[in-house]
Amino acid sequence: MTSPMDSVLQGSRILPVLTVPDPATAHLLAEALASGGARCAEVTFRTVGAEQVLETMAAHDALTVGAGTVLTREQVDRAVAAGARFVVSPGYAEEVVARCRELEVPVVPGVATATELMRALRAGCHTVKLFPAEPLGGLRTLRALAAPFPQAGFIPTGGIQDSHLASYLADPAVVAVGGSWMATATLLERGDYAEIRRLTAEAVDRSTP
Ligand code: 3PG
Repeated sequence: MTSPMDSVLQGSRILPVLTVPDPATAHLLAEALASGGARCAEVTFRTVGAEQVLETMAAHDALTVGAGTVLTREQVDRAVAAGARFVVSPGYAEEVVARCRELEVPVVPGVATATELMRALRAGCHTVKLFPAEPLGGLRTLRALAAPFPQAGFIPTGGIQDSHLASYLADPAVVAVGGSWMATATLLERGDYAEIRRLTAEAVDRSTP
């Protein structure tokens, strides 16, 4: 089944999740991710400068940038105005999904249970974020949750490290894998863009058949 997220991911199976402390560094981060081979990225609404980061990163030709940690209708509007091409939420919020539909922006709600997944599917969201994937039980939980819902595609996120990547990506229910391991808080704080680029390239390499 095709999903509006297909045009966002364009075959990429890695979704870097970014919480950027200093918006003035966003162009350096965009360049590090893009030169590492990333094609999309999620900027979380967890910092005061998130909109500025989105704006800067969305201007990079090679990246499709979306907003993460979107919890309200108002945040959807702010994200889209700043250039977000998709919206991700840690959970399922009716108002977020409804507003994204109105604006025709792909939305990926978070689910952690079969009930939440049923609600998302009923609303027409066939690509969902399994969050927080690792604390929930990782691949074992994902497989159990995916079994009754073959129409769902998952972007597991939360606690995922490079070492988990291959096993998640080998599962047919997994559309892409999200996480901050390529641009951790420590690397961003240190401004270590060479290492962010290296980790991104490694992830992209592992995710390319
Ligand atoms: C998110 O918002 O998607 C998560 O915080 C990312 O999880 P991670 O930092 O454990 O990768």
